[in-house]
Amino acid sequence: MNFSVKTGEADKIRSACVVVGVSSPRRLSAAAERLDKATRGQLRELLKHGDIDAGCGKTTFILDPKGRCQAERILVVGCGKERELSPASFRKIVAAAAKALQDSGATEAASFLCQLKVEDRDLVWKARQTVEATREALFRFDELKSDAKPPKRPLRRLAVVVAAREDLDAARRGIRTGTAIADGVELARVLGNRPGNLCTPSDLAEQAKALHKENPELKVQVLDEKDMHKLGMGALLSVARGSRQPAKLIVMQYHGRGGEENPVVLIGKGVTFDSGGISIKPGAAMDEMKFDMCGAASVIATLSAAARLQLPIDLVGIVPATENLPDGDASKPGDIVTSMSGQTIEILNTDAEGRLILCDALSYADRFDPDVVIDVATLTGACVVALGHHATGLLANDQELADELLEAGRMAADRAWQLPLWDEYDEQLSSNFADMANIGGRSAGTITAACFLNRFAKDYRWAHLDIAGVAWRSGKEKGATGRPVPLLMQFLLQRCEAQERA
Ligand code: BES
Ligand code: MN
Ligand code: ZN
Repeated sequence: MNFSVKTGEADKIRSACVVVGVSSPRRLSAAAERLDKATRGQLRELLKHGDIDAGCGKTTFILDPKGRCQAERILVVGCGKERELSPASFRKIVAAAAKALQDSGATEAASFLCQLKVEDRDLVWKARQTVEATREALFRFDELKSDAKPPKRPLRRLAVVVAAREDLDAARRGIRTGTAIADGVELARVLGNRPGNLCTPSDLAEQAKALHKENPELKVQVLDEKDMHKLGMGALLSVARGSRQPAKLIVMQYHGRGGEENPVVLIGKGVTFDSGGISIKPGAAMDEMKFDMCGAASVIATLSAAARLQLPIDLVGIVPATENLPDGDASKPGDIVTSMSGQTIEILNTDAEGRLILCDALSYADRFDPDVVIDVATLTGACVVALGHHATGLLANDQELADELLEAGRMAADRAWQLPLWDEYDEQLSSNFADMANIGGRSAGTITAACFLNRFAKDYRWAHLDIAGVAWRSGKEKGATGRPVPLLMQFLLQRCEAQERA
């Protein structure tokens, strides 16, 4: 889908459809006001009779605008009661407009929604979110349907109309960033949605390599199990034992500053299917454990998006990828393994496998002399209990880094919420037989999982994002969300901006 920017008045624009906002009870936006004048009061008339719903995200088409309106039709989008839109309402309005346009058969439209006022947000943000929310609303995953029926007349071009020539540049910048992030989100959603049989650790590695072909600046290296043995990655390998699919360690590098900086290292949990292993999971909704590689997908997608935007930053992505299955050779409860760090781990539950693969990836990260390390993982069901499906769980050994991530989540409409990483919790990991156990009992499961990882992240500033509740939706809308690609991209953009200022 193509996004462009232009100036012009709502009644003069030639388009299949102009998109304007109205608020309740009967307040017209500037663009709607112009259309009302040009159509001899048609909008106010419809509002008065209740034929236009001004509720937030409600859409109404005017198919035969009266008078002198140059567009073939008008899409009126309700903005609700508030004088200034909240960022969340703006996204909702944009998504509603996109869906309505797609269903209407208009292949092209001109939107005035970026001229609405949004609390605390500028035009760059509005243009960027127009792309992100539109692409998110129109995303379809039908590569595995034999009779995929794409819309006959899909929305192909959306013009973002700005108020003045001085605004063109800001809107263009927003669209450029938004497009890269939307591409990233889509890649993460596609990879996440692919089933375990078609998205094995090897497939994930091939996907990462394919990105290098599109973007030569993205260097991709794949370590196999032999390499992992040499590195002493006994924890990662202990998970892979139960599977016929060989584990892979995918390492991606993007040197936007020539590799001179201490890089940001992103680590993504890549369990391409989590059956629980010998501590096998109950059958209900087990299919959803194909999404246990959504952390990996978000890291791969973020590196791809950063490279495409040519961000001035040095970045490393590390993806430990494996299946977790119960073979005769699988790890058993009580088994003790030695991690790359030398610390020994008693595996009391083979379903707590994410931390076992991440801990070796955290040790591996050390060789890049990182400025910060952020791991992203569908790590604990407890995080879904604590935060539901709205916020990513955030834990960190450095408050400044945590604050940067929280702020990035707010700006990107992809929020995180911090949980404490106190020593008291860490004690729950004690083992009678090894340096630590891989589970910490029933209480505070998200925190004890992070405490476990923290033991392997002592040499750098580190944050952990538990995306168990946000990485995918269940039920009728089942599918990967692409989160937290927007948060990660915003975090990287903020760092680039801070550097520019310095
Ligand atoms: N991948 C799961 C976490 C998960 C479960 C995410 C459900 C989303 C929905 C992880 O590997 C796991 O199984 N964690 C266990 C840990 C427990 C054994 C300490 C869990 O959360 O039950
Ligand atoms: Mn598990
Ligand atoms: Zn898992």
